[in-house]
Amino acid sequence: MAKSKKNCYFCRPNNGNDYLETIDHKINNGMSKVFAIANQKGGVGKTTTSINLGASLAVLDKKILLIDADPQANCTSGLGFELRNIEKSIYDCLTEDVDPKDVILKTETDGLDIIPSHIDLVGAEIELLSQENREYKMKAFIDKIRDQYDYIMIDCSPSLGLLTVNALTAADGVIIPVQCEYFALEGLGKLLNTVKMIQARLNPELQIEGFLLTMYDSRLRLSNQVVEEVRQHFQDMVFNTLILRNTRLSEAPSFGKPVIEYDAACNGAVNYLNLAKEILEKEAKAQGEAPAQA
Ligand SMILES: Nc1ncnc2c1ncn2[C@@H]1O[C@H](COP(=O)(O)OP(=O)(O)OP(=O)(O)O)[C@@H](O)[C@H]1O
Ligand SMILES: [Mg+2]
Repeated sequence: MAKSKKNCYFCRPNNGNDYLETIDHKINNGMSKVFAIANQKGGVGKTTTSINLGASLAVLDKKILLIDADPQANCTSGLGFELRNIEKSIYDCLTEDVDPKDVILKTETDGLDIIPSHIDLVGAEIELLSQENREYKMKAFIDKIRDQYDYIMIDCSPSLGLLTVNALTAADGVIIPVQCEYFALEGLGKLLNTVKMIQARLNPELQIEGFLLTMYDSRLRLSNQVVEEVRQHFQDMVFNTLILRNTRLSEAPSFGKPVIEYDAACNGAVNYLNLAKEILEKEAKAQGEAPAQA
């Protein structure tokens, strides 16, 4: 059974509030990147990607914060936290301006932290509606901690409601998991229109980091057709890495672990590690091509 944890860094007697100051991980010169993992279609692999891409980047010595922005709280429970023991969550950061440092929990994977979710988050959409700057609430609390991490990843819920709008407004890039299944492209137009709307009105910096093909099964003609269709349509916006259908990926959350700690040799672990490397390589290339700062 998943272990219950309440190990907020800032509540631990020996660390006090010094933890963030004493982090010895290499942060990208304070240049963290924020990714929203989004698709309003349910069950396409958003949470599996958030957990396992996050853990893979942490294994590659990056400092990672996951933000569980889904009231289902699958990212939180999938990393071994008992939801009934969660005292403060993203809900408090969004609606009560609670300092995210008081909410961050350390996971059992070195370098991987999480801002957990809670079922209360269902109410946040309605509570935020009457507030000023309601689309910028997530960005506001992320800005307080973003220099402490290399990558911050927001696991979105299957909706295009205000919480997802908040995530896209806070993000530099959106990763869109696409399941290699019937109706894979269904709803993508609506998602892309939302991205355009956010770019136009709320966050001009938002980019599409990539479409990620998930649950690929090479034996199925349908899987291959979806890959072909998505690559034809979105070309180099599609990650080269394919995530294969792999039962280890679906088993790992019930043990409260990322797959790399559950079975490091399985296809799922290798695929997500390759995705992490692809993202790091893309970023290194982009930095190499960027004009030198004056
Ligand atoms: N590559 C994979 N191979 C096998 N099973 C997978 C894979 N990716 C995800 N799954 C399983 O598919 C289901 C849906 O995945 P996941 O929860 O990551 O999707 P989601 O997009 O976050 O769903 P929701 O929209 O409900 O938040 C889960 O049971 C998960 O374990
Ligand atoms: Mg999910």
